[in-house]
Amino acid sequence: MLIQEIIRRKRDGQTLSRKMLDLITQGITDGSIGDAQIGAFAMAVYLNGMDRDESVALTESIRDSGQVMHWHDLELPGPVLDKHSTGGVGDLVSLVLGPWVAACGGHVPMVSGRGLGHTGGTLDKLESIPGYDIAPCDATFRRLVKEVGVAIIGQTGSLAPADKRLYGVRDVTATVESIPLIVASILGKKLACGLDTLVMDVKVGSGAFMPTPAASRELAEAIVAIGGDAGTRTSVLLTDMNQPLADCAGNALEVHAALRVLRGEDTSSRLYAVTQSLAAEMLVQAGLAGDDADARRLLDRALNSGEALERFSRMVHGLGGPADLADRACHHLAEAPVSLDIEADCTGVISAIDTRELGMGVVELGGGRRNPGDAIDPAVGLSRIAALGERVEPGQPLLRLHARDRADAEAVTSRLRRAFSVSETPTDTPPLVHATLRPEATA
Ligand code: URA
Repeated sequence: MLIQEIIRRKRDGQTLSRKMLDLITQGITDGSIGDAQIGAFAMAVYLNGMDRDESVALTESIRDSGQVMHWHDLELPGPVLDKHSTGGVGDLVSLVLGPWVAACGGHVPMVSGRGLGHTGGTLDKLESIPGYDIAPCDATFRRLVKEVGVAIIGQTGSLAPADKRLYGVRDVTATVESIPLIVASILGKKLACGLDTLVMDVKVGSGAFMPTPAASRELAEAIVAIGGDAGTRTSVLLTDMNQPLADCAGNALEVHAALRVLRGEDTSSRLYAVTQSLAAEMLVQAGLAGDDADARRLLDRALNSGEALERFSRMVHGLGGPADLADRACHHLAEAPVSLDIEADCTGVISAIDTRELGMGVVELGGGRRNPGDAIDPAVGLSRIAALGERVEPGQPLLRLHARDRADAEAVTSRLRRAFSVSETPTDTPPLVHATLRPEATA
């Protein structure tokens, strides 16, 4: 069948068969379809959507467009499971959650991404650790997943290659914001990792990838349904991104924050609470815990015994990083030469934070990329970020910024100050977990 005939069907609002979608993804992968046809296909889907069967077929087709990992030959003693997030600011959950779940008996083959737009990327954070190799050979990756229980690496060229090209075309054809295309893109990559269970963290709020809470919810419902239909038990936590999750943002700063949680020094933050909720959901869904309370008990034990930190250290060392990172983090992680407090200029309560702006501030400081392929500065970023609901006085710091030089610091100061709204009357702070969606609820 001609590709243009398949595009015409979608353009005219008809449904596409699995065979048609396989032809499209095959052509995207082997290069026989040009960017013009990929763009037209993406726009037809953007405008007319997809029904559930089409969405499942596209997801599976993207998953199968390259290497699909299998774990049964390793005879792992526990389930293979992972978490994925739609991305946020100060969202370093993966760094803590992977080793924490491994310490509870899970095996976590986590394939992560780089920063995108205002959101930070797990790989960029890990690369602030000297020597950490995000592209190990397959044998090393599999050995770590088996022996340590976790390995966090970057996407290889052979994993869901159709997504890489399709995403690139979507990015320049105004077709990123399509639920079936987003679902197929996210799940196609994740399900290629051979997971038994996936928990997704879909963010809601001023720093979220989806523009409105309703759109976040729509994406979450689609992910639960399509993930399950494609054979991987999938649940979603809708979590708050109306302020940075950690009180810092920036690559090395976030590795320090991860270590504080893993050492058991930070058990009262939003970061801790969201990570624990996601990890508990993973343990329950994968059958490692009977219920949420049981899962939280297991997690407490893994943290208090030092086992979660131990798994993190073994992963880092196994991937080329220093063996003593946990003990000598300040020695190994870069520190920015200039730090500057941004102060409040009025009295009141922090009533809103433009989280996206804070993320863009980190990018502007050099902690993210302006263009694909740019080098990033691991040392720069923000710390001590004040929280929603906090009372401030003139002169009191809203955050501390860490920059390469004074000029860089001054260039972002007003942008960062503007990100905070201060009002006279206290406002409600949003819940950390807005909702949990499980297969039963949406089937
Ligand atoms: N993240 C992805 O991997 N794909 C999308 O389409 C959107 C976000």
